[in-house]
Amino acid sequence: MQVRYVDTPPQSHTTKLLACAVTQGSTASIVELAALDDALGGAITRAFASGDMKGRKSDEALLYGADAGADAGGAGPRRVLLLGIGKAEEVDVETVRRMAGRAVRAAERLGVDHVSVSLDGLGKLGDEARAQAAAEGAALAAWRFRELKKADEEEPATDVGSVDLVGAGDSDALSAGAVAGAILARAENFARTLQSRPGNLATPSHLAAEAERMAGAMALEVTVFDEARMAAEGMHAILAVSRGSEEEARLIVLRYQGGKKDEAPLILVGKGLTFDAGGISIKPAAGMESMKFDMSGGAAVIGAMQAITELGVKANVVGIVPSSENLPSGTAVKPGDVIQTLAGKTVEVINTDAEGRLILADALTYGARMQPAAMVDCATLTGGVVVALGHHAIGLLGNDEELLVELLEAGERTGQRCWQLPLWDEYRKQLDSTTADLQNIGGREASSITAACFLAEFVGDARWAHLDIAGTAYGDGGLPYQRKGAYGLPTRLLVEWVRSRTR
Ligand code: BES
Ligand code: MN
Ligand code: ZN
Repeated sequence: MQVRYVDTPPQSHTTKLLACAVTQGSTASIVELAALDDALGGAITRAFASGDMKGRKSDEALLYGADAGADAGGAGPRRVLLLGIGKAEEVDVETVRRMAGRAVRAAERLGVDHVSVSLDGLGKLGDEARAQAAAEGAALAAWRFRELKKADEEEPATDVGSVDLVGAGDSDALSAGAVAGAILARAENFARTLQSRPGNLATPSHLAAEAERMAGAMALEVTVFDEARMAAEGMHAILAVSRGSEEEARLIVLRYQGGKKDEAPLILVGKGLTFDAGGISIKPAAGMESMKFDMSGGAAVIGAMQAITELGVKANVVGIVPSSENLPSGTAVKPGDVIQTLAGKTVEVINTDAEGRLILADALTYGARMQPAAMVDCATLTGGVVVALGHHAIGLLGNDEELLVELLEAGERTGQRCWQLPLWDEYRKQLDSTTADLQNIGGREASSITAACFLAEFVGDARWAHLDIAGTAYGDGGLPYQRKGAYGLPTRLLVEWVRSRTR
């Protein structure tokens, strides 16, 4: 997907399709639309007069340029799509992302492979912010996963391959926003592609190979531990989860040096469980196929490291992805087994389906030993977070209030919103074990919180936060820039958080 800012007034920008935002209550005579209305011979005025276009969030009107004929050579848009975006005072960057996503969906319906998006009429948003949001929304919307499916011969789908952003403003800021948005969307789309690959293809070694390929292209430092190396390090929690599998586990470490030499790093950790059958505590068959998405956190960390490198962020950042399968077999870890961890704490495995916290335990310990400035993990960790928050909020927990606020704010700005749950001491005793230092589950009540309590035991004295993305990393494709399946979340959130630390 090519995204660029073109410094041309919308009415003289030649394009197959130009999308323009309309806020509720605006008229065709407002400055943002007047020149375009003239160029269209008053078509916008007529759309308003008909009452079809009121600027409500669901309003859409497709208009045709006066010279829209096949051989027409004049400058200006051939088609103009007015998109209602609701009340002017409520317009934010997420409004722009969705609007650009709608523009791409309309292009797909029309069979048009290019779309232009006007950045005018978006209220008081800054130039860089609205260009970035439009680039993100358009490039995210255009993505699809078609590696494993033949194209429809009768009706081949249209791929939107390029997006031009147009409109008034500081052209340097608008161009910078377009470039950043394209980088962020490409990284999130990379995460979506990794998520979408099924467990038989996206194994731990596949994830590692993809991380190595990406790092090679970016000149990013990458290290991959195999099981022998993990055993030598003492990472017995990851190894315990992986014991039931033929596929070997991997620990992927990506190192980016954008800050001063000995500046403490920011660490991103992502759960890379490539298929979660539950192990001996096997899951029910219905819906088990969606457990290929149990590596969503790992995919987001790999994607985020790509974007951070491409953006040249001025910080040191380390990405850590523990990756394994969780399968039942004669060699698998069993309920009641007590395992060692890298931190030295013993864990009684009551339920082998609570495996994410085990592989994360060793990864967090490994990260904490790097003395990070802060460490954030993301994981499809608990079904409980779906019960608590549904599909619209990431569960956020951690041990440092300032860090939590940083993440809440980054979530608002990226449209990958978080909601805090308490990590009070009182919950910790649900993990008391009679046999080991702690057990891996804390019962039905507050299961997302006790899962986070478990992780907290392995972060040493690091400032740390945890994002439970079990309800938000994939789904039925509710937004214009999503499709059914992988969402790539929280790739943009992680990058925005890292960038926010350098502003
Ligand atoms: N990967 C699952 C969590 C999950 C559930 C992700 C639904 C996406 C959608 C995790 O490994 C798991 O199985 N968690 C269990 C833990 C329980 C056994 C304590 C859960 O939350 O049900
Ligand atoms: Mn599980
Ligand atoms: Zn899992």
